[in-house]
Amino acid sequence: MIKIPGPKAIRIVNAIKKITYDSTFTYPLVIKTGKGCEIEDVDGNRFLDFTSNIGSCPLGYAHPKILEVIKKYSNTEIGIHKIAGQDFYCEEHLDIANKLLSVSKMNSKAFFINSGAEAVENAIKIAYRKMGPLPGVSCDNDFHGRTLGALSFTRSKEVQKTNFPELPVMRIKFCTVDSDLQIDQLEYILKEHRIAFIITETIQGEGGLNVASKLFIQNIRKLANEFDVPLIFDEVQSGMGRTGKWWAYQHYGVEPDIMTVAKALQVGATVYDKKYDPNETGVLSSTWGGGSRIDMAIGSMIIEIITKNRLLANSLRIGEMLKKHFIDLIGINGLIDVRGIGLMIGLEFDTKMTRDNIVKRLFKKRLLVLPAGIKSIRIMPPLIINEDDAKKGMSLINDALR
Ligand SMILES: Cc1ncc(COP(=O)(O)O)c(C=O)c1O
Repeated sequence: MIKIPGPKAIRIVNAIKKITYDSTFTYPLVIKTGKGCEIEDVDGNRFLDFTSNIGSCPLGYAHPKILEVIKKYSNTEIGIHKIAGQDFYCEEHLDIANKLLSVSKMNSKAFFINSGAEAVENAIKIAYRKMGPLPGVSCDNDFHGRTLGALSFTRSKEVQKTNFPELPVMRIKFCTVDSDLQIDQLEYILKEHRIAFIITETIQGEGGLNVASKLFIQNIRKLANEFDVPLIFDEVQSGMGRTGKWWAYQHYGVEPDIMTVAKALQVGATVYDKKYDPNETGVLSSTWGGGSRIDMAIGSMIIEIITKNRLLANSLRIGEMLKKHFIDLIGINGLIDVRGIGLMIGLEFDTKMTRDNIVKRLFKKRLLVLPAGIKSIRIMPPLIINEDDAKKGMSLINDALR
């Protein structure tokens, strides 16, 4: 058996660290390829993937339908060159817009860009355009991206923010229980101040897999209506079927005015109610539009496969099975809480050190998980995961905890 990390991985990691910024790498995994829910590294070590690359690979790896798309685009008659996607049109743009809007219930339009942070930038710009340059409201522990506009509304970890200037922002507590006494904070803000928008996740990913209370989200929706302020739900991590519904907000019986999508869609998108359309060309744009044409084609195919293969139901079913198992482990080796919906599950430990040790132990055992928040583990397998792979992962987590 090859050591983890193997010699090739060590060489590449050391070389990368010398010439690029040492970002948020958790362990020395150098990905080469993958199949199904497995990732293979450059030394031939195979890992079961409970991360989906933070939700970006909902169909796992080498899915036959995605390979078909890639094959189609290798045909030189089509060409895979990038185009200036907001100066010139292409059919992939129409296709992905149609598919995305067909699974988004709002009376909406979409704007495509490259990333999640850009989806957030454009969501807040759409709101500012209508409301003026007023403060925005966001929640403690929210993560909305790292570009300076999006970062202003992020409040996940200090290291992400120190010395970076902010757009005007007011914070409210992200309430996870209906009985939270601070659930009315937004009402006090709206009575005293004019606000451009309210932005929040309904399930915080990077912030630690915190699930918002139903009353909290419904109250925000009610207040946003009452004070006529646009409500933005950030679905960059929780969207595209991750929680067993297309959008995590659907668990709350409400709809946003503006929503952000990325990761599993392969490109970024801001979906907004038509009443927020800037109605003037040139307000929003970027060179690449929805990134590369092939990314838009793959994003369209992902929406099609999630629908056809009933992956929303799979997410709920396997997610419940995993959660039930993890709940039985509470109390063992510092595991203090299990929470989440569908295949977006958090395991919280008593300390950061315990959490970090478990993540590293799982890597050695060939199960990939990622940290979230201060002391939680994020479990986000591909939506295609079957019972056998789920059981294998459960057993590895069981072993790592004992
Ligand atoms: C909820 C949420 N919003 C925005 C972003 C930013 O997305 P990106 O990293 O593609 O810019 C992320 C990334 O993790 C996210 O989880």
